[in-house]
Amino acid sequence: MQNREIFEAACAKFKQCYGRDPVIVAYAPGRVEVIGNHTDYNEGLVLSAAINNGTFFAVAPATGTTCRLTAGDLMHEVRFEVGAPEPVRTDTWANYCMGVLAGLLQRGKFAHGFDALFFGNIPLGSGLSSSAALEISTALALARLYNIKADPLSLARIGQQAEHKFAGVKCGLLDQISSLFGRAGMLVQTDFRSLEVGHAPLGSDAVLLICNTHAKHALVDGEYNQRRADCEAAAEFFRQRLPHPVTALRDVSWAEWEEHHSGLDDRIARRAAHPIGENERVAKGAELLAKGDLEGFGRVMFLSHESSQRYFENSCEELDHVVETARGVAGVLGARLSGGGFGGSVVVLVRAADAEAAAGALAAGYAARYGKPCDVLVIHPSDGASIVKEP
Ligand code: GLA
Repeated sequence: MQNREIFEAACAKFKQCYGRDPVIVAYAPGRVEVIGNHTDYNEGLVLSAAINNGTFFAVAPATGTTCRLTAGDLMHEVRFEVGAPEPVRTDTWANYCMGVLAGLLQRGKFAHGFDALFFGNIPLGSGLSSSAALEISTALALARLYNIKADPLSLARIGQQAEHKFAGVKCGLLDQISSLFGRAGMLVQTDFRSLEVGHAPLGSDAVLLICNTHAKHALVDGEYNQRRADCEAAAEFFRQRLPHPVTALRDVSWAEWEEHHSGLDDRIARRAAHPIGENERVAKGAELLAKGDLEGFGRVMFLSHESSQRYFENSCEELDHVVETARGVAGVLGARLSGGGFGGSVVVLVRAADAEAAAGALAAGYAARYGKPCDVLVIHPSDGASIVKEP
């Protein structure tokens, strides 16, 4: 099992809180978006990976209808009734679990509550999707507790609904699918139109680094939802303009964008350019990767970052600084912001032999500019979510 120490700590904390052992424990990893930025809700393509950090959700049935939920890092508990979870404004971490419970309640009636505790090792706000790891570990554990049959895509949707309805972020399905479908040594290759999920080996010549800048810029969630609304407005424009059916920006080619974008409001045109170009980059990147052309793949990653800067404006000074530094570091093949943007992390593709030196150079470059290093982690693409303890 991955992260055995974290699992043991989660079980020990559970016992400390509730005076007994958990009956079910589920694990779900975070994810890194390797290429395919804001393409998921535009029904496009993404290459991602589940990472070797994640969250454990430990649970045991209660006799009454009250649920007790403890955040293992804070050792702080919230209580709610099993039948009617509602979004909360304080202890907002509980929204991810309560949102998942609300989704599962649409598939069954739960006569009893539970005692639960979650604990993990994904740095918060790093762009590695600690929230999806919490949703998916909760979903797996509670589905098992209440004997709800749900396939992985249904669990992913339940996690996404928790984000939409309880956290207020209109995200796509990337984070939840990556957490569920991860495979050791492999990238997860998803088509967000058909929801077909495949796997592509990264190979042993290169590794991924994650550079967490800890930057978090204001209005993150509002900005995310605004980007999504802009993409939908652009899709509506192209639906009127193009002779073929358009249900999402996935249906618009770069050539079509170039021909028609002057008819759009300038901001909407720029927003649309990013997922349209990005979708073509993911397709190209997947081909290059399949041929073993890591240099080519890395170049496409750099282009993805430039598109974020120029068109989607979801980068920030700290992320740009890391990407620029990476361009000059020996062995680095590509770098780009990963995830929603507006702060968080940069993902770097680097030759395996140079990974350690590159990590040091990136952290030092950041420290020279900002007075403190960014955190650099080597990512090992890992297996997806699973139940790790059951009766
Ligand atoms: C966040 C969202 C995902 C996806 C990425 C950007 O991680 O949760 O659904 O849109 O941003 O690609």
